[in-house]
Amino acid sequence: MPLSFEDASLKSQMFLRELEAPFVGRHEEALVITLALLSGEHGVLIGEPGTAKSAMVRRAASLLNARFFKYLLTKYTEPSELFGPIDIRALRKGVYARVTRGKLSEAEIAFLDEIFNASSAVLNSLLSIMMERVVYDGYTEIKTPLWSLFGASNRVPEEPELEALYDRFLLRSYVKPLDQDHWPELLEASWKLEVGLIEEPKPILSIDELRGIYANVLDVNLNNIKSHFIKLLLTLEEKGLHVTDRRKGKILKVIAAHALLNNRRVAVEDDLIILKYTVPRALEDFDKIQVILMEELRTKERVLRELNEIKVNVKIAASKIQSIGPFDPRLTDYYKSLRIAKNKILSLVKDFDDDDDIRKLASDLINEIDDLLDMITAKLNV
Ligand SMILES: Nc1ncnc2c1ncn2[C@@H]1O[C@H](COP(=O)(O)OP(=O)(O)OP(=O)(O)O)[C@@H](O)[C@H]1O
Ligand SMILES: [Mg+2]
Repeated sequence: MPLSFEDASLKSQMFLRELEAPFVGRHEEALVITLALLSGEHGVLIGEPGTAKSAMVRRAASLLNARFFKYLLTKYTEPSELFGPIDIRALRKGVYARVTRGKLSEAEIAFLDEIFNASSAVLNSLLSIMMERVVYDGYTEIKTPLWSLFGASNRVPEEPELEALYDRFLLRSYVKPLDQDHWPELLEASWKLEVGLIEEPKPILSIDELRGIYANVLDVNLNNIKSHFIKLLLTLEEKGLHVTDRRKGKILKVIAAHALLNNRRVAVEDDLIILKYTVPRALEDFDKIQVILMEELRTKERVLRELNEIKVNVKIAASKIQSIGPFDPRLTDYYKSLRIAKNKILSLVKDFDDDDDIRKLASDLINEIDDLLDMITAKLNV
């Protein structure tokens, strides 16, 4: 039975929630892993040691009912370690084949730690399994069931021979160490993980369900954002952020996956936020794109930030209005600015009426402004 759009969206949200649950400050990383799975693409986590990269991918694998293969790559890793040893018995009969049981060739989900250690011996096979989902075994081409491959590394590759491998990771996350505000929480959380208080999770999503979700992702209507997307790509290009042609089309799938995750059948401007995880190449790009998207997009983040700025100003105005006496000419100025603020709020939240956080903040603010407007009217009419 095909999975309905609502169920696909609910299941995806549940997966994301479960994935991030035991970690502190790792929402975006969990989102990147989830989006990779929903769009059937590969994802890489880049960051300094000990930032929970491996732990997150391991948890994602445990939450999935799927054949999982994981391996730590070194410069000396041989193809046989990933794709299986040569089948000696078959070879005696003149057949060149590998024993693939339990290896990458049979995996639906894979995790290759220290991915950029890949030597040229394994690189070509990785490129074809990631791109075409096939491995070449002597003369034959074997189809593999690989859905998503995840990589982790402490660095962005500089070597030209690794460029093609890096390009195949459509989703990328730069995992930064937590800032000090999060340290107390981090101690609690990592203690729980360390001493085993967080149980190994039960699988909540099967590969078949993932396929069902994917079918719904492909159904998302992208017409409203395509021209905006192209305009953004141009702006990014001008600012030195280049997206390879292979990635341009594939990014659309991630936009669609983000829309589905937010229970939207039609993609909106907010879904373009995923460019944050699909455009950056060099480490500095991750910060750069954040700034550009903040300017270019009316995203949830930005609307919340602007509402909070208004909130601060309303608070300041409130204390002033309370302290000044009746008939004070400044009251009319405050009256005018509050009316402007109110209109600004209404126009800010126009496209976000299905978002609980934004709706609540906006309606609280509007109530507060209305009370202040009443107070001013009273003071001017005494
Ligand atoms: N944000 C976090 N929330 C909760 N626990 C964390 C967090 N960051 C790190 N930890 C703890 O630190 C452990 C180490 O993380 P992990 O081994 O996954 O790091 P890594 O990024 O893969 O490091 P490396 O690059 O060395 O492989 C985790 O298993 C967890 O216990
Ligand atoms: Mg690790």
